[in-house]
Amino acid sequence: MTDHNHHHDGGNAHGNHHGDGLAEMLDLDAKILGAYLDGVTQWAAELRPSPAAIVDVGAGSGAGTLALAGRFPGAGVIALDKSPDMLARTLEAARSLGMAGRVRTLEADLDADWPALGGADLIWASSSLHELADPEQALRAMFSALAPGGLLLVIEMDGLPQFLPDGFHGGLESRLHTALAGLGWNAHPDWQPALERAGFAAVERRAFPSKARPTPELASRFARTFLGRIGPALEGAAAPEDLAALAGLLADHSAGSMLDGGTLEIRGNRTAWAAFRP
Ligand SMILES: C[S@@+](CC[C@H](N)C(=O)[O-])C[C@H]1O[C@@H](n2cnc3c(N)ncnc32)[C@H](O)[C@@H]1O
Repeated sequence: MTDHNHHHDGGNAHGNHHGDGLAEMLDLDAKILGAYLDGVTQWAAELRPSPAAIVDVGAGSGAGTLALAGRFPGAGVIALDKSPDMLARTLEAARSLGMAGRVRTLEADLDADWPALGGADLIWASSSLHELADPEQALRAMFSALAPGGLLLVIEMDGLPQFLPDGFHGGLESRLHTALAGLGWNAHPDWQPALERAGFAAVERRAFPSKARPTPELASRFARTFLGRIGPALEGAAAPEDLAALAGLLADHSAGSMLDGGTLEIRGNRTAWAAFRP
């Protein structure tokens, strides 16, 4: 997909607007599909051991910031986001883990201006690059913000998280995802050519598949939070019978119902790109 620039206002893997459950969504995602946090930070440690200065671009509620601070106990991590609410959550979570001394937050709208970040050893951009108005410019800014030898990790979801069995309602979830893709949700290309155009070298790409069967309570919360956000977004953009099936699913709280019965397998694969500033 190459027209991601047209969609930056359209949405992301988790929904469109802050203040309507996005932070809870991100926390549930990290808790349930967060195996990538371990995998990608491990990969980062192999490629760039002991970074001192780390920046998490589009930190959200702090999943990456906390994983990085945990993986690299000698590092300071700057969590950068345009949302003060997200940053407050990140700081609160860092505090509760005893990491607040090493985590700093920085509020900035990267579509307006890039703050001076110079000399970072590691930059992490997870599910955020595709949200920026001009990702190519953002990659150039990240290149400048890295010290020579510094490492950038870009992470994206391969698709939207999946909750329903494949054949459910003849493929309801995949039709909903196709409709959401039409609205620009999670639209991102293979970042490799853009990374190389920005000057990055030794670009490598790895897949981080994730499947989880969390407790019924957690599974149900994640499914209901995510699926509850897509119905309103798809009004007029998905078949009415599919929206009705989704509404029916959300309304059914009976014992053993699809969303409360404890049988959900949640899938959410990610891809990460690693790239060096030479
Ligand atoms: C989908 S969330 C991902 C959060 C986190 N990195 C994660 O993986 O859980 C994207 C984040 O990017 C932030 N963001 C989007 N556009 C931005 C911009 N122009 N400047 C700064 N942050 C931005 C949003 O506020 C949001 O917190």
